[in-house]
Amino acid sequence: MEYARDIKNAVSIPVMVTGGFRRAKVMNDALLNNDVDLIGVGRPFIVDPEFPQKLLDGLIDSAPSKEREFPPADELPRGAVLNWFCHQLLLHGELGIADTSLPVTEGHEHYLKRIEKMTEQLLRERGAQPY
Ligand SMILES: Cc1cc2nc3c(=O)[nH]c(=O)nc-3n(C[C@H](O)[C@H](O)[C@H](O)COP(=O)(O)O)c2cc1C
Repeated sequence: MEYARDIKNAVSIPVMVTGGFRRAKVMNDALLNNDVDLIGVGRPFIVDPEFPQKLLDGLIDSAPSKEREFPPADELPRGAVLNWFCHQLLLHGELGIADTSLPVTEGHEHYLKRIEKMTEQLLRERGAQPY
């Protein structure tokens, strides 16, 4: 927020900060203190795209933060958390819903396999040799 305040003082366009915003109180305070103009939120949308309305209706006081249930990054394969979220995005696209009960390493592995298939397909389409 310190950086955001400095940036806001230096520019004349709206400033949005994204990363780690979960609790409604923290979001409201940031807006009320004029630290930011907009709150950006990423991963909670993947877990529950309806969460903003639930926050506004007071049904929840915090956006879902599935990543905080995962083991620390240094205990996981490299990229596992991001890949778990990418896999959930694919599920949204294909099934219309995420499967947030999936363990982090399984989502990671599903996504790696999918990337491999997509890469092979792309190379085939381009007439390149599979690697
Ligand atoms: C699956 C996924 C894809 C992302 N893709 C991008 C991207 O293309 N460009 C970018 O600037 N940030 C990307 N991000 C980072 C998010 O914009 C955001 O900065 C990050 O998730 C932290 O915000 P959060 O704590 O609200 O999730 C991505 C994040 C996730 C989980």
